Amino acid sequence: MQKVGVLGSGVVAKVLASGFIKHGYDVMVGTREASKLAGWQLENKGRVGNFAEAAAYGEVVVLAVKGTAAEAVLNLAGGANLKGKTIIDTTNPIADLPPVNGVLQFFTRLDDSLMERLQNAYPESRFVKAFSCVGNARMVNPDFVGATPTMFICGNSSESKKEVVKVLDQFGWESEDMGGVEAARAIEPLCILWCIPGLLRNQWTHAFKLLKK
Ligand SMILES: NC(=O)c1ccc[n+]([C@@H]2O[C@H](COP(=O)([O-])OP(=O)(O)OC[C@H]3O[C@@H](n4cnc5c(N)ncnc54)[C@H](OP(=O)(O)O)[C@@H]3O)[C@@H](O)[C@H]2O)c1
Repeated sequence: MQKVGVLGSGVVAKVLASGFIKHGYDVMVGTREASKLAGWQLENKGRVGNFAEAAAYGEVVVLAVKGTAAEAVLNLAGGANLKGKTIIDTTNPIADLPPVNGVLQFFTRLDDSLMERLQNAYPESRFVKAFSCVGNARMVNPDFVGATPTMFICGNSSESKKEVVKVLDQFGWESEDMGGVEAARAIEPLCILWCIPGLLRNQWTHAFKLLKK
């Protein structure tokens, strides 16, 4: 895999797109409004297109948009441009409601997840949850002295998960494969846990690690 299409113009899309460029991939970032990426484009010399163009460009697609808009963005990207491709899903189902004592509110329930909804809507694409449980500032080659943080991933395609593990190796993460798409029910809420120290105490510099014997 060499060409990556990144869907999104927010901080996660920009950080990951820059990370892929740094690691030698060819990248196109997609948005409804290219002017939002003018600064990023100038700095990174990356390509910018609309959602459909970025999805068509990528051999692998990164979905990095607001959770409530994720399905709409895939619709704009177009099923034909996503068919058969690995989609690295960074999204979280955060509701348009304020946190309760530092606890984010989701629009999904525990017997459901955003990635399951997206996988059901696009059964010919291969979604892999990744990068959803850490802040954007630590997504690419984070510097935790003496420790490699753990990225929890899941998805139905072993082949796609292998591709994502390779990316995570390059990006300085150890991967923990939690199984099929339903494991997103457990991985997505890690974002709630990750954000609590930030929302309560303005601490945003941590990451998860799974200790094993
Ligand atoms: N921020 C973090 O550190 C972090 C960490 C882990 C995971 N995440 C997850 O990563 C995802 C991206 O987060 P973010 O903070 O970078 O950006 P964001 O503000 O959550 O999302 C911005 C993107 O959403 C798209 N969007 C918003 N409303 C839309 C609509 N009605 N129709 C179509 N597109 C719409 C925008 O499209 P346009 O480009 O067209 O405006 C833009 O690309 C989220 O799901 C978030 O939960 C974030």
